[in-house]
Amino acid sequence: MAVTTSKLIEWKQQKRAIVTLTAWDYPIARLLDRAGIDIILVGDSLAMTALGYPTTLPITLEAMIHHAAAVSRGVKQALVVCDLPFLSYQESVSQAINSAGRMLKEAGVQGVKLEGGYPAMIETISRLTEIGIPVMGHIGLTPQSVHRLGYRQQGKTPSDAQRLIEEALALEKAGVFALVLEHIPANLAATITDKLTIPTIGIGAGEDCDGQVLVTADILGLTEKAPPFAKVYANLSETITKAVVEFAKDVRGNE
Ligand code: KIV
Ligand code: NA
Repeated sequence: MAVTTSKLIEWKQQKRAIVTLTAWDYPIARLLDRAGIDIILVGDSLAMTALGYPTTLPITLEAMIHHAAAVSRGVKQALVVCDLPFLSYQESVSQAINSAGRMLKEAGVQGVKLEGGYPAMIETISRLTEIGIPVMGHIGLTPQSVHRLGYRQQGKTPSDAQRLIEEALALEKAGVFALVLEHIPANLAATITDKLTIPTIGIGAGEDCDGQVLVTADILGLTEKAPPFAKVYANLSETITKAVVEFAKDVRGNE
């Protein structure tokens, strides 16, 4: 049975952890799907991990659609969600509807993720969910705001923690089907998780979220520097280097 957004809420109630990973192309998506990953996120982190940009800001909607379409072609079971990239949804509600709509129509994804829980974003997300576009929220450290926030942990002061709790509740009310909590204190993530009916998916937010997400390139050892909260499960950099050095040796022989 393919994963649906309503399944996710059931899983939260049953305390069945929701496993999420990012993908950026067809072969990675196919492997994650066959391994039984629940949500495959075409995260705009691919701008950094797959395309070599210094932040997520430069990637365009066209480029994200291109990657999301490839991921969708590789997935049969998982729920495929794609990030809307920086400035493809913040300008106006109609810009967001257009970008999200293109993602569903042209890339074949089942949902979109938008960063932020401030009032204008709540309004945008309400409109998207109203017209039937499934939306995943994302608060805490929001990398599209890196020039304002840096990559620092969020929600550390009582007032910032309170703001994040209120944003989470507003996002649930706006109709998001799940909420990513990035790099916030574990006790704050636990509080938010408790208050919501929809599942929380944590990244650097402790163990008490309803699910966890990591950047696949980080856990496979493909990035130069993974964040401290990303456990590295394989060293593909080493595996690939060994393989290509071997190939080079074979081609060059013993000259
Ligand atoms: O872009 C991304 O990979 C993400 C996840 C880490 C949540 O937004
Ligand atoms: Na992202």
